[in-house]
Amino acid sequence: MALQLLTSFLPLLLLLLCFTNLTMAAYNILSFGAKPDGWRDSAPALLAAWGKACGDKKPATLVVPKGYFLVSRALFQGPCKNNNIRWLIHGTIVGDSAYSGASEWITFKYVEGLSLYSATFDARGQSLWSCKAANRSCPTGSTALTISQSKNVTLSGVTVKNSENFQIAIMFSQGIRVEGATVTAPVDSPNTDGIHVHMSSLVSITNSTIRTGDDCISLGTGVTNISVQDIRCGPGHGISIGSLGGSPGDTIVQNVTVSSVILTGTQNGLRIKTWANPYDGFVSGIVFRHAIMNNVQNPIIIDQNYCPGNANCPNQSSGIKISGVLFEDVKGSSATAVAVKLDCSRSNPCSGIELTSINLSYNGNKRRMAESFCRNVEGRSSGLVNPPSCL
Ligand SMILES: *[C@@H]1O[C@H](CO)[C@@H](O)[C@H](O)[C@H]1NC(C)=O
Ligand SMILES: *[C@@H]1O[C@H](CO)[C@@H](O)[C@H](O)[C@H]1NC(C)=O
Ligand SMILES: *[C@@H]1O[C@H](CO)[C@@H](O)[C@H](O)[C@H]1NC(C)=O
Ligand SMILES: *[C@@H]1O[C@H](CO)[C@@H](O)[C@H](O)[C@H]1NC(C)=O
Ligand SMILES: *[C@@H]1O[C@H](CO)[C@@H](O)[C@H](O)[C@H]1NC(C)=O
Ligand SMILES: *[C@@H]1O[C@H](CO)[C@@H](O)[C@H](O)[C@H]1NC(C)=O
Ligand SMILES: *[C@@H]1O[C@H](CO)[C@@H](O)[C@H](O)[C@H]1NC(C)=O
Repeated sequence: MALQLLTSFLPLLLLLLCFTNLTMAAYNILSFGAKPDGWRDSAPALLAAWGKACGDKKPATLVVPKGYFLVSRALFQGPCKNNNIRWLIHGTIVGDSAYSGASEWITFKYVEGLSLYSATFDARGQSLWSCKAANRSCPTGSTALTISQSKNVTLSGVTVKNSENFQIAIMFSQGIRVEGATVTAPVDSPNTDGIHVHMSSLVSITNSTIRTGDDCISLGTGVTNISVQDIRCGPGHGISIGSLGGSPGDTIVQNVTVSSVILTGTQNGLRIKTWANPYDGFVSGIVFRHAIMNNVQNPIIIDQNYCPGNANCPNQSSGIKISGVLFEDVKGSSATAVAVKLDCSRSNPCSGIELTSINLSYNGNKRRMAESFCRNVEGRSSGLVNPPSCL
């Protein structure tokens, strides 16, 4: 009888076993004491939930339900026992409205195999911006979301806003995907770069909207194999490689493709910027393709005498060699007469700069045509190039 029972239940039993093995463990942060009230600190609860997920040998899901969760600061650190942790964040993670002086707010470090879905992070950086605006002595501020020393991380449909400093930073990492992000901060908030990447490879940023007070996307030193596609920027300072050569050390930027981007009312469009310091380095294999400019101050710009504010400029010649840069199919309007500016290093002139299918008009003054400016640059142009190329 017992045997009969067992055999008839065996398939069900096996199925159940199978199922528990396959389904991910799921942890709701409420069961770790998180409070969706926006004022009690949920950082300890999130860290406890992370500890569970990270310690699991099988894939794990962390669930943040709807509501406002105050997180003073949190470092989610690996290495973890599994390489598939998912965060389903339906609610909003809010920062402390008073600034702390820390350099990072939410950080993922030493993590491999992580995905974050539909989260909203509101860093509430207003009090630090006010401090800076009043010229008081203020800390630099913290980056809202940092991915560091990690591999295979996906941020899908996340919103990051009002960071004190950079909004999203990716560093010392490989295989990072940002898709469908919305990144915003007021136009007058200082240093609020949208997405900053350095010392990383195989990073892709796609289908995102970025409106900030500084660079939309900035790619610093040590970036290779980077793809940026389907991006809407503005206001802000545009899409930049750099700034580079601000401090000693070799600079390497290689194989970056930026395509299908729309820039509206930004200070720059597609830019490469280096300080005029003698520090060595190179930038090569860069493609900027399919860009629409709407009233952009410097739609196409290579600036090797970068020195914002023109104070304490190094005033030397950049040691960074820029070569192999293609600008293809860039059209729209420039807010200044010089729509194409290629201002390269005296000691390391740019080479292999190519302009093709460019159509930029100056919309500030009907009687003045858009112009190009070239200094220390070698390259060629083909197809329609308006303003006429100076290469
Ligand atoms: C990347 O991580 C995801 C889970 O987030 C996992 O399913 C996938 O297998 C990982 N890919 C690699 C190449 O490790
Ligand atoms: C802060 O300093 C800047 C530049 O030095 C100046 O333009 C601005 O007016 C100052 N702001 C205040 C509130 O003092
Ligand atoms: C682009 O991102 C938005 C916002 O996350 C999303 O709604 C939309 O489906 C995405 N589009 C594509 C083609 O992935
Ligand atoms: C450039 O990077 C892309 C990934 O963004 C990669 O697929 C491609 O193979 C790389 N090309 C070279 C020449 O390294
Ligand atoms: C960049 O991509 C190329 C081609 O896929 C590969 O050979 C190279 O190792 C990659 N570089 C890095 C730093 O990932
Ligand atoms: C920069 O250097 C050049 C020559 O080296 C010099 O003529 C010029 O006055 C310098 N400018 C400043 C602002 O120091
Ligand atoms: C270039 O842009 C101007 C103004 O936007 C437009 O009128 C003109 O037709 C464009 N030329 C070509 C060849 O596309």
